[in-house]
Amino acid sequence: MRTATPETGTEVTAVTPAGVLPKPRETGTLRVIPENWIHPLDIAGYFHRQARLEVDVGCGKGRFLLARAASHPQINFLGIERKLVRVRKVERKALRRGLRNIRLLRADAAYVVKYLIPPDTVSTFYIFFPDPWPKKRHQHHRIMDVDFIKALHRTLQGGGKVHFATDHQPYFQEVQRRLQSHAGFEIIAPFIPADEERTDFEVLFAGRTPISRLSVRKVQ
Ligand SMILES: C[S@@+](CC[C@H](N)C(=O)[O-])C[C@H]1O[C@@H](n2cnc3c(N)ncnc32)[C@H](O)[C@@H]1O
Repeated sequence: MRTATPETGTEVTAVTPAGVLPKPRETGTLRVIPENWIHPLDIAGYFHRQARLEVDVGCGKGRFLLARAASHPQINFLGIERKLVRVRKVERKALRRGLRNIRLLRADAAYVVKYLIPPDTVSTFYIFFPDPWPKKRHQHHRIMDVDFIKALHRTLQGGGKVHFATDHQPYFQEVQRRLQSHAGFEIIAPFIPADEERTDFEVLFAGRTPISRLSVRKVQ
């Protein structure tokens, strides 16, 4: 596995016996850098173990990811975030808390899900408060487009789930329409986070605007 030290970007190699998670302080980083940007990621290699994989798309400052990883040590969590400063913040907190089951990938999540995550790999995607791009001329930037939804479906294991939340009603309706009309998904009860799992965005804007939530399961 190649990983980068947070400050210098220098690559280091971490080797541990199969099935044993290295302590974050031993590797010095939770950030992963793919060997290349063309071939499928060796996700189990990043974690040094085979375990259920959950992916936080646009994890931001990581309040949800950190809480979820702490309460589910048996699950591997991959946070994908394009802002370096946020990735570093989540990494610092995870290291401080001794969390060994988080890895962080600084990249465009759309690219990662479409091209780098192998098929039938992910147990759950969390997509909480993705940028809504409210202006009409910017809406093509929204991550939950038809191709991304196809990629979510392809990379999910059978029975895998997508949990989506937004405070932007038009975006919610668009995503709801797309997921409802996708034959490979069925709507299930929405994921309601425990208080400590509410995302930074949700905590910041709590009570100011209604939040819409939608969850689906891969059925075929
Ligand atoms: C509104 S914030 C929400 C963050 C977090 N999910 C929360 O609820 O607090 C959206 C986050 O997604 C990240 N983001 C937006 N588009 C992205 C993309 N294509 N790939 C990775 N991260 C992305 C942004 O940098 C930002 O941190």
